[in-house]
Amino acid sequence: MWLNMPDFTYDIEDIDLAQQGLKRMDWVRERMPVLHGIKEDFTRTKLFDGLRIGICLHVEAKTGVWLEALAGGGAQIAITGSPGTAQDEVAAALVAEYGIQVFARKSETFDRHLDYAARVLATEPDLIVDNGADIHMLALTNPDFSRAKSKIIGATEETTTGGFRLREEITAHVFPTIVINDSRAKRIIENRYGVGQSVVDGIMRCSNLLIGGRRTTVIGYGYCGQGIARALRGLGAHVTIVDIDPLTRLEAHTEGYTTAELEEALPTSDFVITVTGRPDALRREHLALLKDGAVLCNAGMFETEIDLPGLRELSVESNPIMPDIRRFSLENGKTIYLLGEANSVNLSAGDGNPIEIMDLGLAMQSLSLAYLASKGRTLPAGPQNVPGEIQNEVAVRTLRAWTRS
Ligand SMILES: NC(=O)c1ccc[n+]([C@@H]2O[C@H](COP(=O)([O-])OP(=O)(O)OC[C@H]3O[C@@H](n4cnc5c(N)ncnc54)[C@H](O)[C@@H]3O)[C@@H](O)[C@H]2O)c1
Repeated sequence: MWLNMPDFTYDIEDIDLAQQGLKRMDWVRERMPVLHGIKEDFTRTKLFDGLRIGICLHVEAKTGVWLEALAGGGAQIAITGSPGTAQDEVAAALVAEYGIQVFARKSETFDRHLDYAARVLATEPDLIVDNGADIHMLALTNPDFSRAKSKIIGATEETTTGGFRLREEITAHVFPTIVINDSRAKRIIENRYGVGQSVVDGIMRCSNLLIGGRRTTVIGYGYCGQGIARALRGLGAHVTIVDIDPLTRLEAHTEGYTTAELEEALPTSDFVITVTGRPDALRREHLALLKDGAVLCNAGMFETEIDLPGLRELSVESNPIMPDIRRFSLENGKTIYLLGEANSVNLSAGDGNPIEIMDLGLAMQSLSLAYLASKGRTLPAGPQNVPGEIQNEVAVRTLRAWTRS
């Protein structure tokens, strides 16, 4: 049994949660028909035989079902997640039942997360799946990992933020990286419809508050922000959009939303959501303007969208009052409630994107990895879009699954 093998390392909360994790995955598996078809293909072709895949992606039930498909294709897998988003029971199931090296805990800090990313890279994977470019940063900028770097055939990057970092912070690419977020399927279907629903679900689940009639501000009106605004409006909220790009503000106005500067919107907003993909969308001076009792959360990739050190400096006291709610008592006398410690609220306070949406997103990951496994060495180094034929193939398979009667 792998659990006793010396090189089978892992770090999770509690291995005894495995049965609970398997039950969670059962519910999900039955609702992921596109991945099911891909798993059958991979199991037949054994495309990943002899290959190691190192992954950074939220360790939750949908990811778990996807890993079954990769393992079916013969891959050896090591995975870590993101701070605050791991489902500990799924982590346990993946270790105990599938022999996957998991480094993830719901309680992990950002520093621990970086350490886990390093442990995944230390397994010297042939293929990388990244989520925010942390593994890329280690592989491409840290000389300790030069041996691991030389083994990598290719990689994928899931997110908007990771795509920015690959293009803006890394100069020397040595292997191809397919940026899943560059695809129309990810942006339009997942970011707009999936994130919209799941972010509002996360807010409602952990706060149990009414959305209808409430003043809400969405900071960042990209694909995710559009989806969140649409979901909030669907529930009857008054939605104000803040975006640094004038054309985007015009688009939001034309869609019927109020547009405003942060300074105008914050003093009257009951809910404030950041989703820009950039650090410091809400800085210390903005936080002081929030309405007394405002509920604050982040839907972007990193909690740095909100200046948390600044929020702590402005506060005389901060206490967790519910599992995903922290109360800050500010020196100006106001009280602010932060959801999910500013980690992506749909994952930290909910179950992440809807299952069907991730069926599509993870299908795109699967076919991109298959493409890299067979053609990676012939592709140019650096970030690139998902090949058109893969996007079309996933769209065809998904539409077929969603319209089947
Ligand atoms: N929670 C999830 O499940 C999930 C899923 C997908 C993407 N994301 C993350 O959500 C974030 C946004 O992704 P997207 O695809 O919508 O990005 P996007 O690039 O389509 O949109 C971002 C928008 O924010 C605006 N913006 C940038 N900086 C700003 C600032 N300081 N103030 C106000 N507006 C600002 C930009 O003009 C743009 O309109 C990223 O971090 C992405 O990784 C989260």
